[in-house]
Parts: sequence; structure tokens; C-alpha cells
Amino acid sequence: MRLPVLNDYTLKARRVAVRVDMNVPMHEGKIADDQRIRASLPTIRRVLDAGGSAVVLSHLGRPKEGQFGAGLSLRPAARRLQRLLGNPVRFAEDYLGGLAVQPGEVVVCENVRFNKGEKSNDKDLSRALAALGDLFVMDAFACAHRAHASTQGAVACAERACAGPLLEKELSILGNVLEKWQRPVAAIIGGAKISSKFTTLSALANKVDTLVLGGGIANTVMASRGCPVGRSLVEKDWFDSARRLCHQAEQGGAKVHVPVDVICAGEVHARNGVCRKAADVQEQEMILDLGTDSIDQLHRCLRTAKTLLWSGPLGVFENPAFANGTEKLAQLIAASEAYSVAGGGDTLAAISRFGVGRGISHMSTGGGAFLHFIEGRELPAVAALKARQNGTMS
Ligand code: 3PG
Repeated sequence: MRLPVLNDYTLKARRVAVRVDMNVPMHEGKIADDQRIRASLPTIRRVLDAGGSAVVLSHLGRPKEGQFGAGLSLRPAARRLQRLLGNPVRFAEDYLGGLAVQPGEVVVCENVRFNKGEKSNDKDLSRALAALGDLFVMDAFACAHRAHASTQGAVACAERACAGPLLEKELSILGNVLEKWQRPVAAIIGGAKISSKFTTLSALANKVDTLVLGGGIANTVMASRGCPVGRSLVEKDWFDSARRLCHQAEQGGAKVHVPVDVICAGEVHARNGVCRKAADVQEQEMILDLGTDSIDQLHRCLRTAKTLLWSGPLGVFENPAFANGTEKLAQLIAASEAYSVAGGGDTLAAISRFGVGRGISHMSTGGGAFLHFIEGRELPAVAALKARQNGTMS
């Protein structure tokens, strides 16, 4: 079904509420990576160029519902947006009672998650947010898997709502990849917890030809097979599920790869580590990166892939001592002729740190939403857009 889109509307002299995802990593009050703010620029510019004004909505982090927390204010994001946009941007702390917006103005509203009822998708809050614009534009792909008041809720109750260009682009590119991907397909899934990616892993196990596991996810799989993992991050309650997952993948013809050697140290902030065979990890050690044989294994198993999906780092890449595996993977994907898609905050941060973004065919702004999508699950905000019978606005 065709989604209502921004092009369907005349924007001149209209107030356009745009839900973007400016949930950017912050470090000591400063924006550590502004890729998501940059990704929202074309949509905001399009509204302004068409003669409209923009009321920008986003969340940041996971504040306690209904409570203001200075560390999660969107004020720094509004300042960054102003710099990137080259237009004045007003910041609004109070906006639920309505906003007076000047023609051509850009207003960024304070973190929507400071409002009670955002996460429980409260109807009154949804209405108040939707009423901030003559048109409500859902452009936050990264948040489309959340049925919150500023996403699914506002889309459902706005007088007019449509998908923004970024959401459209993500759905089209990712949809095409999943429908028409070229085999062999390899998925590389890293990150801390198998529990948080288990449904994605199960879905991929039936679809891909190669499944490469890294980070804490691989630790749990290795430990479930009786490998020593010392004090590494593992989820003991997930051992059975981990074994089932590998069995399911292998039954379906997919090869599952976990590290054959690893870099270990006593703690994540160590200045260096020691390379050991996976079977030789010591009791007091933590697995923090891939070893050299595991990197060679990566080369071998990804070499023939025609489609590559990547989510999650393979080690503690924030510490240069343990960044090698993730860096080599990023370089390998970027140099590959395969169609490559990467998603997730840490993954994009790694790509940007290693400077290989140009080699990645599509970098999704989504983390959880990207995983939901590749699992084949419906995104609630997109479902709400599909369900709409829109009014016109010309
Ligand atoms: C993300 O970073 O994946 C999105 O902004 C959604 O954030 P959330 O997981 O806190 O809902």
C-alpha cells in the first residue's frame, strides 16, 4: 500500500510538525556524533524551501517518564541543527498548549520523552503533539518501531499525516534489499547481549547463508558450547536459546561463525591484551576483541557474499586496544563489491571512526528499527500511516 508522503501536500504558509530522531550519543553534555541530526536536514530544508515553517519533535535518551533531566535536554541538538541548517532555530521548552510559529521559522521542542504519556502512547498527548502542525510528518525511521505518542499516536490522530523523505528512503532501500537480495547473503551481528537481538538472529538464521557473531553475543554462544570465557560478558539464561539458534541456522543451511581466537585482558580499559585460542581463555580474563585467526576467518567467510548486513561491533572498539576486529570488519565491508547495509548507533559510530562510510551502500539511521525491519516485523508508526485516510491540504 502506498504511504502518504510529503509531496502530496502544499507546504506554503503551513506549519509542519516533523518527528525526527535526534537521539544522538552525548558525552559530557556534548554531541558525540551528529549523523542523525544531519540526516534530518533535507526534510527540514524541504519544508522551508516550500515556504512552510517547521516544528521539530524528537526524543533523546530514556529519561524517567514525566521528568525533566538537564542531561537529556534537546537544547544542544537544537544549537547543532541551527549551525548545520544555517538558519535561526528557536528552542521551545513549553509547547503542549500550542506554539505561535512565524512563517519560515524553525522551532525545536524539548525532549518529547519528558512528557508523561509519551511511552504509554497517551491519546491526549498524541493529539497535543499532532496539533503542533497543520501537517504531521513522521520522518523518524529510527523510532518507527515504537508505538509512542509522538510516533504512532500522533500519526493516528493528526488531521493530516504523512511519511517524511528519510522514512520513505529507509523503507524503500531496506525493503528492496530484503525482497531482492542477491545470494550469498552474510549477516554480521555483534553487540553486547544475545537477549536484545535474539528475535533478529532467529529471523536471520532462516534467511541468510552466513551468520557471523561477535561481541557478547558470540561469548554467550561460545560459553553455551562449553568454551571457557573467563569473566566475559555472557547471558547464562540464554545458553539453551543460543544452542537452538545455531541448530536452527545449520538446519536451514546457514553457516554460523564465532571467533576462533580472541584478544583478552583483565578489564575493558586495559592498554593492551593478549591473543589466545578461544579454548584457552583464562578465568580472570575478559574477551574484548577478535584475534588474528578470527580476522582471517572473517575474510574467508565474507569474501563471496553478494549482500552484507551489519549490526553491532565485534569488540570494545571504543578502546583502541580492542578496536582491531571491528575496524577490519568495517574496512572489509567497505572494500567489498557486495551490496552492504549497516545499522545501529554503535555500528554507525564505528563506521565514522574508521572513516569507511563511503564504501557502505546504505547506512540506516535505525538501531532497533533496523533490526525490527530486517526481521520482517511491521513498524507501528508505518502501520498507522498505511491505515490513514488523509485529508488534503491544498
Ligand atoms: C534508537 O536509538 O534506536 C532510537 O532512537 C530509539 O531509541 P529507544 O530505543 O530509546 O526507543
